[in-house]
Amino acid sequence: MSSPKITVPALRARKTKGPKIAMVTAYDATMAKLLEAGGADVLLVGDSLGMVVQGLANTLPVTLDEMCYHGRAVARAAVRAHVMGDMPFMSYQASPEQAVQSAGRMLKEGGFESVKLEGGADFAEHMRRIVACGIPVMGHIGLTPQSVHAMGGFRVQGREAGAAERLLADARILEEAGAFALVLEGIPSELGERITKSVSIPTVGIGAGPGCDGQVLVCYDFLGMYPDLRPRFVKRFAEIGDEIVKATRTYVSEVQGGAFPGEAHSFGTTPRAELTGNRPVIGSLPPGYGPASGE
Ligand code: KIV
Repeated sequence: MSSPKITVPALRARKTKGPKIAMVTAYDATMAKLLEAGGADVLLVGDSLGMVVQGLANTLPVTLDEMCYHGRAVARAAVRAHVMGDMPFMSYQASPEQAVQSAGRMLKEGGFESVKLEGGADFAEHMRRIVACGIPVMGHIGLTPQSVHAMGGFRVQGREAGAAERLLADARILEEAGAFALVLEGIPSELGERITKSVSIPTVGIGAGPGCDGQVLVCYDFLGMYPDLRPRFVKRFAEIGDEIVKATRTYVSEVQGGAFPGEAHSFGTTPRAELTGNRPVIGSLPPGYGPASGE
């Protein structure tokens, strides 16, 4: 029997009941299926897709349409995991009305179950209005990548006392505005723990130390897809990047040397089965299409 869907109330309850929230990013159906099989609680379609999928320098050019496109792919694959989407740059900042319209589109067109937006007290009214429409919202404070130019780069935030107090106040204001959880990014561990203790909603850290109620990482980071990139806040739990390069080298060499395809991966003229063995990666086969077979 499959496990029950992870809902917003269930995520909120993790603050007191545990276990810690294990959140990862996902951008497509195949990866979403694998990450869910690994037990991820939340699949975040992050606007980080601008950097890791589209190869951009930052997240700013990502559009609402692009978020919805990736959201639909992930939502198709997720059975148990909660599916959340980032509100992209300038899809909510202009006004609370714009925020409500964009969040609504994300649920209707992107298949998301909640949205996440970056910013503190300045966006409390935006958050309040989205929440009033019945759309769950996660806040995101500290290092907010959509403000990369204002911050002068991807820099640790909240190191000096005044900035730390402002982040603490932001966390409380967002809680009061109806956020069901908060991402804390790129802040000192002590501040991560202090904020976590001062709000009644769960905090999910990325470079915010072990004192948060959960953690989030970009999937390509924790899977080790970038052999040359070693940010301090990332732990590599596998070296998939090296494996992909190794497997591709073997494939290239077998194609060029004539070892692939051999008999085992080819069809004969005598039909042992009509079907190729190909099938949809998500869901069951439509009637008349299966079962998959070897030949
Ligand atoms: O865009 C993203 O992937 C994120 C997480 C890393 C928190 O916002």
